[in-house]
Amino acid sequence: MPPEARTPVAVLGLGPMGSAIAQTFLAAGHPTVVWNRTGAKGDALVELGATRAPSAAAAIAAAPLVVVSLADDDAVGAALRDAGPRLRGRVLVNLTSSTPEQSRRRAEWAGHHDAEYVDGAVMAVPQGIGTPDALLLYSGSEGGYRTAEPALRTLAEQGTYLGADHGRAAAFDASLVSVFWLSFFGVSLGISLAEAEGIKGSELVPFAPAVVSLLPEMMARTAAQVEAGHYPAEDTSISSAYTAFTTLREVIARHGIDTGALDATGEVFRRALAAGHGADGLARLVPVLAGDH
Ligand SMILES: NC(=O)c1ccc[n+]([C@@H]2O[C@H](COP(=O)([O-])OP(=O)(O)OC[C@H]3O[C@@H](n4cnc5c(N)ncnc54)[C@H](OP(=O)(O)O)[C@@H]3O)[C@@H](O)[C@H]2O)c1
Repeated sequence: MPPEARTPVAVLGLGPMGSAIAQTFLAAGHPTVVWNRTGAKGDALVELGATRAPSAAAAIAAAPLVVVSLADDDAVGAALRDAGPRLRGRVLVNLTSSTPEQSRRRAEWAGHHDAEYVDGAVMAVPQGIGTPDALLLYSGSEGGYRTAEPALRTLAEQGTYLGADHGRAAAFDASLVSVFWLSFFGVSLGISLAEAEGIKGSELVPFAPAVVSLLPEMMARTAAQVEAGHYPAEDTSISSAYTAFTTLREVIARHGIDTGALDATGEVFRRALAAGHGADGLARLVPVLAGDH
């Protein structure tokens, strides 16, 4: 990238994610101003060439592109409380995890201050920022996104703009992160059970791909059936899966391992069975989960 194309960037928030973002901008040659409530967290970045701003408002004043990565929306509110007037004419890209409603409210607030507001969701760990694995999702001001896009591409080549609704990136984030959190719980449960059975967690690892690789196909098929409103039991039915599920629960309960999450799942199965969906495929659990029996 020629030096004149390197947009000056302000990064607000230097937790692990904000620090990785600032470091990646610096490595790509963007003049980078950083601010963090606890200033010392910027020391390493200053050594790498960042400029430390004394306040969020001063950081915003120094760059046309402002990237925010704070703990949550309350932290964004606290950090930007007195900085609103400085946002005029800036592109504000908020990569803080938020609910869709928080993102829409934040967009309204930014609009009152004449900023172009882009909300973003980081589908990556800090170590992944700037690598080919990083995925960032954006929504909100398209003009703002297009202006910021060359700089944002340094964070993630796989940046995807999802549309003008400021809450859309956060809605994608929550939907995909649901898969992540419950999968993590599944990993924890699997390792607990293995250990209770005298098996090391690491002994399971070679077999993990056979299980995990089923997920994308499962998601595609479930989404297709939900969109069609038609739930054929192509490989297993709800009643047959519930029988296998009950056996698993029994093994886990016998070892005294917490069955709370499994019991919540079992309850959804039972609601589907009580509503007469036993012969349907597992995708029928989606409307049952949403309260549509
Ligand atoms: N880390 C990950 O793997 C990951 C992955 C995807 C998405 N994310 C998202 O990225 C965002 C940042 O993540 P992180 O891991 O860097 O989070 P973090 O370690 O929790 O960083 C929190 C940042 O928020 C600041 N902060 C908290 N309360 C504040 C307040 N009231 N006023 C001003 N600043 C405040 C902290 O400042 P101090 O240093 O002064 O405490 C710090 O800069 C989060 O929304 C997170 O969900 C993180």
